[in-house]
Amino acid sequence: MTLGRPRLHLRETTSTNDRARELAARGAPHGTIVTAGVQTAGRGRQGRTWTAPPGSSLLLSLILRSSDELLPLRAGLAVADLAGPAARVKWPNDVLVDGRKLAGILAEARPQEGWTVVGIGLNAALNVDDLPPDLRGTAASLGRAPGELEAVLGTLLEALTRWLAAPAGEVIAALRGRDALLDQRVAWNGGDGVGTGIDGTGRLLVRRADGSETVLDAGEVHLLR
Ligand code: BTN
Repeated sequence: MTLGRPRLHLRETTSTNDRARELAARGAPHGTIVTAGVQTAGRGRQGRTWTAPPGSSLLLSLILRSSDELLPLRAGLAVADLAGPAARVKWPNDVLVDGRKLAGILAEARPQEGWTVVGIGLNAALNVDDLPPDLRGTAASLGRAPGELEAVLGTLLEALTRWLAAPAGEVIAALRGRDALLDQRVAWNGGDGVGTGIDGTGRLLVRRADGSETVLDAGEVHLLR
């Protein structure tokens, strides 16, 4: 099914996810997207804000009328494809290049209403020097020109179409090849350990210091350096 049509583009809005949620609640079809030039109240996970200098990023929310546990991971793989072989997916929602964040993904679902909104903030044309000094070391960019954002959107929608349709086994195999947490020290709300991989259903496997293995199926994981 075609992703990207219909499309609502706003020069400025609070959050593309908020607009997409409204459209979804009013019955917008599968594949509808909302994009924006600037967000004044962009949202990240865990109540964080998402900020992007004007013209620096692809700010996209996609309405899906299907549900799938692997959805955010599929979206991460699509973004990673744009960044090439060095890109890694940091379970469950980030895309990193050289340990720096290239993109964040915020999936919000209302299963009872039959929709999911996948919000993607992708630093496609970010000049890292435009960020406040404390953030410069944390962000990555595709290094494209601001005038290329539409082309990046087209490529991303193609990659999303592929990964949303891919068999789960293919998704898991690709994730294992791009696992940012493999053999890395990680901490989560409840413990810390070393990432040992991704299981067959997309959950994160972690080995604790006492040798026991923990399986995480949701939540936030921090890389310890
Ligand atoms: C995160 O890393 O915590 C997720 C960030 C998601 C940001 C994108 S930008 C487009 C969409 N609209 C929002 O308000 N958030 C998502």
